[in-house]
Amino acid sequence: MQFDRHRKLRTSSYMRDLVRETHLRKSDLIYPIFVVEAPDIKKEVSSMKGVYQISLNLLEKELKEVYELGIKSVIFFGIPNHKDAVGSGAYDPDGIVQEACKLSKKLYPDLIVILDTCLCEYTDHGHCGLIHPETKDVDNDSTLPLLVKTAVSQAQAGADIIAPSNMMDGFVVEIRQGLDEAGFAHVPIMSYGIKYASKFYGPFRDAAESTPSFGDRRTYQMDPANRLEANRELHSDLNEGADMMIVKPALSYLDIIRDVRNDTNIPIVAYNVSGEYAMTVNAIEAGLLDKSVIIEQLDSMKRAGADLIITYFAKEVCSMIDRGE
Ligand code: PBG
Ligand code: ZN
Repeated sequence: MQFDRHRKLRTSSYMRDLVRETHLRKSDLIYPIFVVEAPDIKKEVSSMKGVYQISLNLLEKELKEVYELGIKSVIFFGIPNHKDAVGSGAYDPDGIVQEACKLSKKLYPDLIVILDTCLCEYTDHGHCGLIHPETKDVDNDSTLPLLVKTAVSQAQAGADIIAPSNMMDGFVVEIRQGLDEAGFAHVPIMSYGIKYASKFYGPFRDAAESTPSFGDRRTYQMDPANRLEANRELHSDLNEGADMMIVKPALSYLDIIRDVRNDTNIPIVAYNVSGEYAMTVNAIEAGLLDKSVIIEQLDSMKRAGADLIITYFAKEVCSMIDRGE
């Protein structure tokens, strides 16, 4: 009986390296940082071991660590002192993420700063847009101008990339136009246009203190059961001028990442979300899984077609790469 000898290419670590198809690099990783407006806080998020809420006055030390580890891009999320019905903290020129961005660009000008354009961390009701007084649903069109204001204030603070995550229809084209008119035609948009209404965001909402006070996000985020809908979202965003596309969450949505890879030629970003992080950290801590599952998971996202990965594991992975693990 004749058969193929696949094991020829697996005989040693050098041989396996030689034929490896997927390579995870430090420059693939985007590290999320939660910045608090109140001073002197460095508080671990209870549902996300190893992830902290950090005050602006303690951010310098964190950025130094991130930079020295070789991370090349960060995304800031804000925890403001003040929340209101219209999320005014999101577009305050001196708001918390704007200040974090200015500090980061001053200390480490080449470190890429991505800012998340959404209102949910800044609204007292925790939704990503304005609530319509009658329907009590998030109102699409009246939210758009506030998102534009937020994006422009973020570009003015020096953000290298604008990442709108609110899932209002038309957000990419409106933000693109607003940025262009304000003199930021050179600033790219990384759209979170393929964002599912996922329960895997739970720990993030603890970290960002952004859980909706009523209802849920299913009238604006996508139904987890849908695949073709992702293709529609993708094509709208491409038409509207998106420069990069985020698929979120990542691990339960690798099929979607592969679809997007096959349908477009722009960079694709996988968001390895908070729930994925929490599950993995807890399993490792409990001794149920080996730490190398972190790399296995991130490799699976790259294999599915992601170019970049937003991950709370970024620091850990840089250390693992340095140690040759
Ligand atoms: C804000 C936003 C969310 C995440 C990133 N940006 C939360 C949400 O939609 O509730 C989730 C990230 C994560 O779970 O790690 N719109
Ligand atoms: Zn939001």
